[in-house]
Amino acid sequence: MEYMTPLIYQKIIKTLSYIYSKSAVDEKIDLFRFKDVLDSYSEGQYESKLWAVKELEKHITEAYNTCLIIGGWYGLFSHILCDRGFEKKVKNIDLDPVCRMIGKKLCLFDNIDFETGDGLNIFTNEKRNRKSKIVVCTACEHIDSEELYFYLNHKNKDMLVCLQSNNYYEVDSHINCHDSLQDFIKSLPLKTILYSGTKRYKDDYDRFMVIGK
Ligand SMILES: C[S@@+](CC[C@H](N)C(=O)[O-])C[C@H]1O[C@@H](n2cnc3c(N)ncnc32)[C@H](O)[C@@H]1O
Repeated sequence: MEYMTPLIYQKIIKTLSYIYSKSAVDEKIDLFRFKDVLDSYSEGQYESKLWAVKELEKHITEAYNTCLIIGGWYGLFSHILCDRGFEKKVKNIDLDPVCRMIGKKLCLFDNIDFETGDGLNIFTNEKRNRKSKIVVCTACEHIDSEELYFYLNHKNKDMLVCLQSNNYYEVDSHINCHDSLQDFIKSLPLKTILYSGTKRYKDDYDRFMVIGK
């Protein structure tokens, strides 16, 4: 982040200014996006994404040609991944179309792209459900547990996945929290666990992470 930090802050300031101007003329853009963009690049988000990138890097080989991110939001994970040297294609997929619009404005790397759609479709798409793909979802707490299990159960057996959830039940949109790392692991149909761990955030909640196949 040594070089990326000042640039990303400039981009964030420009993007907040864009959101302010756009909110006056485009009903899809309202001022809650200020808070959402700032939250997405907050210290806690940075820590949890850096943790994911550092652990995931240990398993990335030349065999992988793309990293697909489900619920990529405004692209922080992709920025950290590329800032630390990942040069292959990275695609942020988010249900919310505004994430693509804002994510593109914040973007610092040519190999990062944004797409609007349901990221779970990766696992039923012949071109994407391949052993050459890495799939990341640090937003499992936002995805229905049965749905996540169903789609992951279709994944290519050699595809590498990195998944995070938490025990932060207090947030309404968190529909798939877990009491412990073991509960999170049990909720996933992975055949091989390459890494699993827990991190505590400001005495508020625990974040769980699993990397596997
Ligand atoms: C609040 S954000 C991210 C929270 C999480 N702590 C993180 O940093 O990844 C969750 C995002 O996931 C997106 N999302 C939820 N389900 C999705 C799905 N099935 N496919 C793509 N995006 C999804 C939402 O639109 C939202 O932008």
